[in-house]
Amino acid sequence: MKIAVIAAAVAVLAGIGLSPEIVGAPSPKKEAKAEKNATPLSSVLLQQRRARGAYLARAGNCIGCHTAQGGGAYAGGRKLSTPFGTFVTSNITPDKATGIGDWDEDDFWKALHEGKSRDGRLLYPAFPYTEYTKVTREDSDAIFAHLQALEPVVQQNPPSQVASRYDFQPLLTLWRAAYFKPGVYQADPAKSTEWNRGAYLVQGLGHCSACHAERNPLGGMIGRKGDDKLGGGQIMGSNWYAPSLTSSLEASTAGWPVEEIVQLLTTGISPRATTSGPMAEVVSQSLQHLTKEDARAMAIYLKSLPETQSHQQVNSPAQTEQVQAWLRYGARIYKEHCQDCHGDSGQGAPGIYPPLAGNRSVTLTPPTNVIRSVLNGGYPPSTAGNSRPYGMPPFAQVLRDGEVALVLSYIRNAWGNRASLVTTAQVDKSREGITER
Ligand code: HEC
Ligand code: HEC
Ligand code: HEC
Repeated sequence: MKIAVIAAAVAVLAGIGLSPEIVGAPSPKKEAKAEKNATPLSSVLLQQRRARGAYLARAGNCIGCHTAQGGGAYAGGRKLSTPFGTFVTSNITPDKATGIGDWDEDDFWKALHEGKSRDGRLLYPAFPYTEYTKVTREDSDAIFAHLQALEPVVQQNPPSQVASRYDFQPLLTLWRAAYFKPGVYQADPAKSTEWNRGAYLVQGLGHCSACHAERNPLGGMIGRKGDDKLGGGQIMGSNWYAPSLTSSLEASTAGWPVEEIVQLLTTGISPRATTSGPMAEVVSQSLQHLTKEDARAMAIYLKSLPETQSHQQVNSPAQTEQVQAWLRYGARIYKEHCQDCHGDSGQGAPGIYPPLAGNRSVTLTPPTNVIRSVLNGGYPPSTAGNSRPYGMPPFAQVLRDGEVALVLSYIRNAWGNRASLVTTAQVDKSREGITER
């Protein structure tokens, strides 16, 4: 009740354009700005700030969402479909009319830290300000300096199409009251500087929880005790599952050597796992550009996350005669179509083809990702450390739904793997999203 009243009050204030200071939010560095206006940053300092900003924008993968396929970098227009509607990303190049050329550092900070546009409009959380709010003012200013130095692109993007029942600001106000708390990352003094740097990057610019958190039906992130909102979940509006980074049954890296975690993050492949789909995109556009120190800091933080219970239930099928017959059929399909690359006992080929035996991506309870892998095929990201990755061919045109289900059921239950069978209906459902990026 209290929250609703406050939220309603905030909505009213926001509606009539009162600045956040009046509602008691901390005021950004007003003096610093005045000072800066009096003595412009020397050009060397500005160059340094822009370079830092370019690096940080990589770490935040701003370009990934703010660039449409075939469109100008940072000019926006990429469509993100979710159950709530289709959100269109903004033009954040310094064009005055269609981009953010008229903005100043304070406006930009308000967007990144508070999720509000220059005119006070509450932004949709498809823009992951729920994570970016952890970014420091200094880093925000640097990113802004970088963006302002880009070539302006004149591009007016269509508005977001939001389901009418969600498209009004008071509702967003309530959503934010429940699921969004602005606040810069607070270092944990009990932990090392390196660990804190890693946590800052993962929880802030890296916005890992934007995909790896479990979400409720309203799109609010659900964190369980100790999982730092990395407990794994279906990515909204896509048929990819982002595995838990805190469960050893899914994608926790607690037991890995730090070097292997760094290798996975920066090259997309490692002895125990290979990235694909949206994660391959994250690696190629963002993580591969991290400095060695930052990648290591991230790895140290990820490795330290305590084990949490996974949603995973190991419910491998009872070995009835029917099931055994299915699995034998699946084995035949495997021999014919998969074995050349993945090996006769699912061992793969190091650095070239991922192993399927003992591979946690293969046995994840939701079979979403393996179905995608087989239907669409795919490449690990092309990175400096793995510049010509070997790919997996798509089988959407080669195998029928039933055959995909059988071969997947087989690899999920061969060579010591144990997981539920995959059904034809699950494969069929996945084909619907096949054109999605
Ligand atoms: C997961 C996708 C995604 C990523 C990553 C992302 N954005 Fe956005 N961003 C959006 C969407 C969607 C909107 C539009 C939201 C709306 O209109 O309410 C947006 C809006 C914005 C706005 C507000 C523009 C305006 O006119 O109000 C700014 C500024 C912005 N983003 C900057 C950034 C920066 C800087 C980064 C990287 C640190 C970034 N974005 C990364 C999706 C993303
Ligand atoms: C755009 C959504 C998205 C974002 C952002 C994202 N991930 Fe992922 N991640 C995925 C998906 C989907 C998978 C499952 C596919 C795969 O295994 O590569 C995954 C898999 C992983 C894996 C397991 C890899 C494997 O194959 O076992 C790790 C580790 C991981 N992510 C770490 C991170 C970290 C750290 C960040 C933040 C820097 C991050 N992810 C950000 C979507 C995302
Ligand atoms: C030409 C070689 C080749 C063939 C044939 C092939 N694969 Fe793959 N497979 C790969 C490569 C390379 C990857 C890594 C792709 C990526 O990261 O997106 C992969 C990835 C996978 C993955 C995801 C593993 C992970 O760690 O995320 C699964 C599951 C898989 N293959 C199953 C199969 C099945 C089932 C078949 C037969 C129907 C098959 N593959 C045929 C090369 C192959």
